[in-house]
Amino acid sequence: MRILGIESSCDETGVALVDASGSATPRLLGHALHSQIEMHQAYGGVVPELASRDHIRRVLPLTDAVLAQAGLPLSAVDAVAYTRGPGLAGALLVGSGVACALGFALDKPVIGVHHLEGHLLSPFLSADPPEFPFVALLVSGGHSQLMRVDGVGRYELLGETIDDAAGEAFDKSAKLLGLPYPGGPALSRLAVQGDAQAYKFPRPLLHSGDLDFSFAGLKTAVLTQVKRLAHASLDGPATLHLADPLSAQQKADVAASVQAAIVEVLVKKSFMAIRQTGLRRLVVAGGVGANALLREQLGAACAKAGVRVHYPELHLCTDNGAMIALAGGMRVQAGLADGDAFDGAYRFDVKPRWPLSELGPAVLPA
Ligand code: KG4
Ligand code: ZN
Repeated sequence: MRILGIESSCDETGVALVDASGSATPRLLGHALHSQIEMHQAYGGVVPELASRDHIRRVLPLTDAVLAQAGLPLSAVDAVAYTRGPGLAGALLVGSGVACALGFALDKPVIGVHHLEGHLLSPFLSADPPEFPFVALLVSGGHSQLMRVDGVGRYELLGETIDDAAGEAFDKSAKLLGLPYPGGPALSRLAVQGDAQAYKFPRPLLHSGDLDFSFAGLKTAVLTQVKRLAHASLDGPATLHLADPLSAQQKADVAASVQAAIVEVLVKKSFMAIRQTGLRRLVVAGGVGANALLREQLGAACAKAGVRVHYPELHLCTDNGAMIALAGGMRVQAGLADGDAFDGAYRFDVKPRWPLSELGPAVLPA
């Protein structure tokens, strides 16, 4: 059973092929990605219409590249998985349209995959795959959630952000510092040269007793701090960017301090979830999972507590087609892929808003 996966929910076009034969964890046969970061950088963020058009340009050449890597013809594909949502509607429609067209041409089923399920399962492609059940910390540009995962399609939401996601907190803080989009990687690179103790930013909801997050206040605190520092050294007219009057060291100190605040909250809440569920495994997925400080601190805390922590391979932390092909494959293996109720009809349906909690019980076996 070979599954082609197509990801096009935001600013990355990803295509991959997995072998999901039998019950063994699906194996990656080929994987290709085109990131649109450079194209969107001029605008300081993702321009949805440009994203859709670029997905159209990239998706078929990437598919050819994946098949060439695998040394297989298109006819070797047994099913096509695509990201059905959540994400940008126009961007999602490209993946859905191409998946349906390929499925129709090959007379093979298509599987609509939840993007976050892809992230959640992505560590199964790593050299150190997890076992169910586990606690998942899902931290991407649009989501910050803690989940109990008992199996494929069996997801219980333990807590989530009540406002901004962790990735958004990285991105917005980075923007305030005048760093290029996407802010997370840029901010964490700058933070290496900074002092994390320099500024005391809030740790929102750290003592709320529940597993929810809130990161919107952090952005305001960073704005206030940057304004204060800018004013302190501003002796001329208003400059181009708010952070321009800051010294390189001040910027690095702000970056390190805000990163420390976000990471501390993520680590402590993950451990609260571990305690609450009694589970001894933690999976970290989504773009923010690539953050080196988060990995370092979670690694140290988990080693101390005897908890196993699993990550996707670094290059599969951010959006990619491999996680979509994998989730499609694991759904087929679990007998859950008929969420699409494949009946020979190809539907161009996407779900730009689609809570993962809607996926769980709806597809559980009777
Ligand atoms: O999972 P992802 O690629 O896309 C979504 O599904 O949203 O996550 C993108 C997010 C962005 O907010 C980006 O700034 C953040 O992940 N990110 C990072 C790092 N790499 C990506 N944040 C902090 N440190 C990083 N190294
Ligand atoms: Zn994502």
